[in-house]
Amino acid sequence: MLPWTLLGVLSLLITVPDALAVKSHDFKTCSQAGFCRRGRAISARAAEAKSAWKSPYSLDVPSIAITPNKAVFKAGVKSSLYPDIKFGLELRVHEDGVVRVRMDEVDGLRKRYDEAASWALISEPQISQEITWTAGKKDIRAKYGNNEVVVAFQPLKISLLRGGKEQVVLNGRGLLHMEHFRTKQVAETKTEEAAPEAEEGAEQVVMDVAKEVNPRAWFEGDTEDDWWDERFSTWTDTKPKGPESLSIDISFPNHGTIYGIPQHATRLALPTTAGDSPTFTEPYRLYNADVFEYLASSPMSLYGSIPVLHAHSADSTVGIFHAVGSETWIDVSHASDKSTQTHWISESGILDVFLMPGPTPADIFAQYARLTGTPVLPPHWSLGYHQCRWNYISSEDVRTVQKRFDEEDMPVDVFWLDIEYANEHKYFMWDEKNFPDPVEMTNDVAANGRKMVVIVDPHLKRTDSYPAFKEASDRKVLVKPASGDGEYEGWCWSGSSSWIDFFNPNSWDWWKSLFKTTALKSGWSWTLSTTDIHIWNDMNEPSVFNGPEISMPRDNVHHGGWEHRDIHNINGMLFSNLTSQAVRERTDPPTRPFVLTRSFFAGSQRFGAMWTGDNLGTWEHMAVGIQMVLANGIAGLSFAGSDVGGFFGNPEPEMLVRWYQVGIFNPFLRAHAHIDTKRREPFLQEEPYKGMIKDILRLRYTMLPVWYTAFRETSVTGVPVLRPHYVVFPKDPKGFAVDDQYFIGSSGILVKPITTKGATETTVYLAEDEVYYDYFSHHVYRGASKGKDITVHAELHEIPVFVRGGSIVPTRERPRRSSPLMKLDPFTLRVALGKTGSARGELYLDDGVSYSHEKGQFVWREFSAETAKKVVRLTTKNLGLERVGEAVDGVALASYNPGNEFAKTIGEVRVEKVVVLGLASKPTSVKVEGGNELVWEYTPGVAAGGKGEGVASVLTIKDPKVLIVKDWAIVIQL
Ligand code: GLC
Repeated sequence: MLPWTLLGVLSLLITVPDALAVKSHDFKTCSQAGFCRRGRAISARAAEAKSAWKSPYSLDVPSIAITPNKAVFKAGVKSSLYPDIKFGLELRVHEDGVVRVRMDEVDGLRKRYDEAASWALISEPQISQEITWTAGKKDIRAKYGNNEVVVAFQPLKISLLRGGKEQVVLNGRGLLHMEHFRTKQVAETKTEEAAPEAEEGAEQVVMDVAKEVNPRAWFEGDTEDDWWDERFSTWTDTKPKGPESLSIDISFPNHGTIYGIPQHATRLALPTTAGDSPTFTEPYRLYNADVFEYLASSPMSLYGSIPVLHAHSADSTVGIFHAVGSETWIDVSHASDKSTQTHWISESGILDVFLMPGPTPADIFAQYARLTGTPVLPPHWSLGYHQCRWNYISSEDVRTVQKRFDEEDMPVDVFWLDIEYANEHKYFMWDEKNFPDPVEMTNDVAANGRKMVVIVDPHLKRTDSYPAFKEASDRKVLVKPASGDGEYEGWCWSGSSSWIDFFNPNSWDWWKSLFKTTALKSGWSWTLSTTDIHIWNDMNEPSVFNGPEISMPRDNVHHGGWEHRDIHNINGMLFSNLTSQAVRERTDPPTRPFVLTRSFFAGSQRFGAMWTGDNLGTWEHMAVGIQMVLANGIAGLSFAGSDVGGFFGNPEPEMLVRWYQVGIFNPFLRAHAHIDTKRREPFLQEEPYKGMIKDILRLRYTMLPVWYTAFRETSVTGVPVLRPHYVVFPKDPKGFAVDDQYFIGSSGILVKPITTKGATETTVYLAEDEVYYDYFSHHVYRGASKGKDITVHAELHEIPVFVRGGSIVPTRERPRRSSPLMKLDPFTLRVALGKTGSARGELYLDDGVSYSHEKGQFVWREFSAETAKKVVRLTTKNLGLERVGEAVDGVALASYNPGNEFAKTIGEVRVEKVVVLGLASKPTSVKVEGGNELVWEYTPGVAAGGKGEGVASVLTIKDPKVLIVKDWAIVIQL
């Protein structure tokens, strides 16, 4: 976001020193947010009181009730500070061992928001039938498999154990506090808040320590700190419900590293925010926000929030997901280097924490995917290159840009239009002067197999001449102001605007109807659209230029009477959810939508891609973009990327080349730039940079089979497309902090993009005793079982990309102008023999646009190579036939049609080249089994550095004429 007045200033910026950029004062620190201040004060008092600190919360033992099937356990919870207030706790164990812990106030003055999970979860999880709860004197416990959940009565403490060892502990530090609803007592506040009557038990503990002190004050502080209203800058939040925040400590004994809780611009292994010498002094904040020129290293909030984290150690991974939609701050500290503590402070909502028992990262991904769904399998073309800028200013501009790509033979799949296509920023309505022929323009783009993406933001210009606004207003589906009456009005790109309340189901069908390309409405020009246009949803935090923290007032009212504060972090997801449904349902049968969103929540992976927002053209932003994309993958949202080139600034050629190298190894690859930047399309660059970028883009296109295969896998298993070291080598502590190199899916491709100026070489960490081949030079390196750093060339034209020994990588090496034109292109197989002489790889293909893959229309092959008795056999088989029954959750695998139509369309597609790396000696013969000698070339390896290092031997088999969809064997006789 950028107010127009600042546009001129920005044009002067080439690189922006971070500290001068962000307007920190636009955004709250913890101490400026009443509930965060109160939550942190609890932990400060607890730290001071040390072991004397005891939680006032305890289980009301007589109230324990276990459902007849024994799977759900409910009980009342009491706080000794407020004996009259009732809380309810509920624990359920899911079939896959995930434990859900919910706590709410019971019979309170009001109801806490309890619907966050309903937006995030795909369905009501299956409860285990195997659980037996056993109540003892001090606790109640349920054992299942190697796991056990224990609920200690007094103080209340909930632990998940594995093998008898605590893995996750809730309220172990006694920081649980659910502020109950109360009536505002203007004059008598002090009296009303006096010490409660003494209660036996828990309260005594508190009193022992603070004998002379009011125990409530000892726990909560002694003022009504921002309970009833709160000022920030010029805004007052009226807080009609009063205090209702929630504090909970969640500790991970025996897990020294944590990952997740995107979105923050920071390291993947989360630095500390509390305890001794923390890296950051502010907690990580989750409050979706449009942060202008955000810092490259900060725990500040950004555009999206996923309250999910992994806690990891060499022998265990556990995870938690807290389904809370309100603003949440999370402190991270280490009790020792082997143990991590977190403290979650949320503004409103119930406690709804899912404990994911692991014990491996892959298990957590599956457990989380069963809760919130797997990432959608995107349209194949959306994995190509997206060319965007704010703005391509006319249809002629779009045509010219396309022409220049074609003249330079540079591949591109999608041209984007930012907000200036829309007449007065009234989305859906073309600026007819500059875009007089949108259908013809789109058809011209589509003629080359390409698509367009057009922006639709959630703010609707408040004018009756804008049908989208008028209809939304007539239907009463706009967000309401704090009074609960009328329409909230704020300021955004379109000037005075209102926002659709997607929490109101009455908005849903109407919103979808706006995307129908055939629905003719008077006064609408969106009918000038085609199904080759897909959608970009921006500003959906929501961004409100004149609102508190550039967003909506928290006391705005949504459907059901909920305040904006309750649902703020979920808001953006509903917008992209409904938009993706709208785009999907434009056609019958539906086709796969592409929707890019800036704001997101747990579950957003089901609706499309995200990007990291308005990054700066700095090396720091380039580097942190990788870490942010990795963190998003950890939290389920793999389809992610950052603006190539940096949104703000004019990158020098070296930086632009490096940024393209980063970009092609992001799942989502889009160049984008601010309206005041110089044009920087690849074809505008001078040589040698232009040629370098062309090669980089072509590399992306050759590797599309790798990307698509990786997306298929994540769409079924939830294991991210980009895999950081701890995911691939969970037992290797040396890799836990590695976040500048990663693997793509299961392909064995390891990449370390360069993000520093002037680099000519870099070090790459190899975690295992295996050979790794340089993707381009075939130089071979050998890792070590305890891990090893190697030094590799990284001149500007070089990208450190490796194939892990033991992998087979399918690529398509014919340069084309767009990805759909590659549909019938032949494949190259890179067989990277591992140290034992074997290798394996997969290839997944389908029509890339429809849902026919859900009905078994796909090709899924395995390639393997085995060496035995001087014979290397390279074979392939149909994984569709073999693996469909093993589907984890995925629809894609629910059925397989062996004679499927899609497979027929690529029935003649062949393997045109096989490259075998690392043969022990020159072959004596190379044949397709049962056939004649093939044409092949062999270059012997050159040893250097010992243990198989040097340059690998390379066998190149030319056109073996074997088909992708058929079983075959190539026999290499040594
Ligand atoms: C926001 C987006 C940016 C876009 C601009 C204009 O700043 O983050 O990508 O270009 O708005 O729509």
